[in-house]
Amino acid sequence: MEANHSDDGSPQTPATGNMTTVSHHYFGDSNASDDTISITVIESMKEDYGLFVWPCSVILAEYVWQQRSRFAGISVVELGAGTSLPGLVAAKVGADVILTDDSDRLEVLDNMRRVCDLNNINCEVMGLTWGVWDESIFYLQPQVILGADVLYDSSAFDNLFATVKFLLEKSPGSVFITSYHNRSGHRLIDFLMVKWGLKCEKLIDGFSFLPSWKASGLSGNIQLVEIGLNDARKN
Ligand SMILES: C[S@@+](CC[C@H](N)C(=O)[O-])C[C@H]1O[C@@H](n2cnc3c(N)ncnc32)[C@H](O)[C@@H]1O
Repeated sequence: MEANHSDDGSPQTPATGNMTTVSHHYFGDSNASDDTISITVIESMKEDYGLFVWPCSVILAEYVWQQRSRFAGISVVELGAGTSLPGLVAAKVGADVILTDDSDRLEVLDNMRRVCDLNNINCEVMGLTWGVWDESIFYLQPQVILGADVLYDSSAFDNLFATVKFLLEKSPGSVFITSYHNRSGHRLIDFLMVKWGLKCEKLIDGFSFLPSWKASGLSGNIQLVEIGLNDARKN
């Protein structure tokens, strides 16, 4: 069994069981001790998309942390949350957070509840499959929608963006903040914005704001975008 790891890749506490491992994620400057947080995540050694802390999640969580004053007191929904690092950081800094993942992935949803308990964080955990209109989605009114590494399977884009657009329309002024592996320049985002009547409000290189000790453990071309409704297309 592999050793546990933290954001900087160093070994941490022993694993909790045969298939699971625990990772620790730190935010803030450890020299300024009153302004730091840590989140502990249970991951699975099994290859399952929702039971692993993907690099996009580390980057989105860091962004939430650095923008923490903006998150205090607002409502947040995380889509495809998996191990939920960004949503957990948002909750720690005072947001009212609903963590969601595919309704059929009960193991992922159970793990999300365990991670909330482990960190003593009070979040609602909800099954929300993209493009599926269960009753519960009609009650959501997030000011920020988060999604880390949810743009990885082009066959799921329409369902994902149908859900995102529905939520953005329900909550005027809301934004979708997502981090993704950029494999096609800006073409993918440009295409999705036009297709869904959305606009890209910010586009940031994911490594530009990551502390160097976190960046050294990650690789790839990860971008972060803030997306809103394209009001110019209304009517
Ligand atoms: C690559 S993982 C990213 C997980 C997590 N956000 C992270 O970055 O560590 C993709 C996530 O999307 C979820 N997912 C995939 N298809 C989905 C769907 N149709 N509806 C809802 N969630 C879905 C998976 O269960 C998984 O948790």
